[in-house]
Amino acid sequence: MAHRVEILRGPFDPGGQPETRSGNPLELGFFAWNLAGGMTASKAVLSDPARLRDFWHWDTALYLNQTAERIGYEYQVPFGRWRGWGGATGYNEESLDFLTAAACLAPVTTRLGLFSTVHVTYKFHPVHIAKIGATIDFVSRGRWGLNVVTGSTNRRENALFGQEPQDHDQAYEMADEFVTLMKWLWASDEPIDFAGRYYQAYDAVLRPRPVRQPRPILMNAGNSPAGIDFATRQCDWVFLTGRTLDEYRQLVHEVHERAARYGRTVRPATMVYVIMAESDRRAQEIVDWVEAEVDKEAVNNFLFGRTRDPGSSFAQRYGADLGEQDEWSGIGREQFMRWAMGLSAWHIYGSYETAAEQMRALHDVGVESLLTCFFDPIRGLHQMEDDVIPLLRKMGLRR
Ligand SMILES: Cc1cc2nc3c(=O)[nH]c(=O)nc-3n(C[C@H](O)[C@H](O)[C@H](O)COP(=O)(O)O)c2cc1C
Repeated sequence: MAHRVEILRGPFDPGGQPETRSGNPLELGFFAWNLAGGMTASKAVLSDPARLRDFWHWDTALYLNQTAERIGYEYQVPFGRWRGWGGATGYNEESLDFLTAAACLAPVTTRLGLFSTVHVTYKFHPVHIAKIGATIDFVSRGRWGLNVVTGSTNRRENALFGQEPQDHDQAYEMADEFVTLMKWLWASDEPIDFAGRYYQAYDAVLRPRPVRQPRPILMNAGNSPAGIDFATRQCDWVFLTGRTLDEYRQLVHEVHERAARYGRTVRPATMVYVIMAESDRRAQEIVDWVEAEVDKEAVNNFLFGRTRDPGSSFAQRYGADLGEQDEWSGIGREQFMRWAMGLSAWHIYGSYETAAEQMRALHDVGVESLLTCFFDPIRGLHQMEDDVIPLLRKMGLRR
């Protein structure tokens, strides 16, 4: 007889939380390598499509991930996108699947942490993801982790699954139950019965269990109150999006405090969009060019393709302003460019010294990991290897 479990929501960490520290004070991740254009909605990518847009093709993607591993990056994260945003660049139109990409990378890497991404509300059952994850973790000898995304504000993607978007905050309740059930499955030797509001599983057991103990690493990048609450209750890495260093400092403080209230720890991280060159001036020239070529159609498709659910951080920040009243869709040139280049990530533009200083500044306000995304990923990783990581070493941020 299966054991009926009573805990259906977090905080829930049977056996504790997994160790996530690599030993480097500032950890590095490689982001969005699996889809057309990555995080750059600019016609500048059409100047060399193979290099700047189509790096997700496997030969290049494999080279990029193996390079990231070789130069000491701790992990990769693919971007989870089911439907692209069009425009002249075909922004994000083509992509490798972000659940199974980690499985493809498992046998061709040895140390790199391998994240998958799942959209909880797109009709997955937690048993599917727990099983797929345990398998990738088994094959990669304990290197798998999951980026938990709700997907509740994306209209086009929900349509793909034949449904209306889920209410924003309710989607985080679903995520909470989803993760609790996965954690039960990863921890239990014996079959369980789980009778949740959103998910049920009877006589459920997973064999083999994941290699990493007590379970795989979970990350989340929610920005709204509901998202941050979920991340601090259930995840290990929390990806923050600040607009100033002070805002980062506050967010770092908030997530540590919230996690402590739940008897847990979380590690703050952020994504950064990077354009570097030998000098600040040369980097700025590249930035000016990428901005001048911005693919407005693709950016607008993205901005207007989201719901304005009042619970979402996007609606809270831009909901009232978004419109066709001016050429920047009502949110101002600077914010428009932040979405076009890096999807609201922190921008690191400049010489190698400037880049390293900016990375140190983020570390100094409590950010423990940078998920880097480059306009030119091949060049970007080589610049990290040759110029930036040596500076980070001198700063004591990397071994
Ligand atoms: C580092 C990072 C990675 C993310 N990855 C994805 C992704 O792969 N797919 C996706 O649909 N959303 C992704 N998001 C969006 C977040 O999961 C989240 O929905 C968004 O930050 C808005 O917060 P909210 O859901 O709390 O309103 C990502 C965001 C960040 C900052």
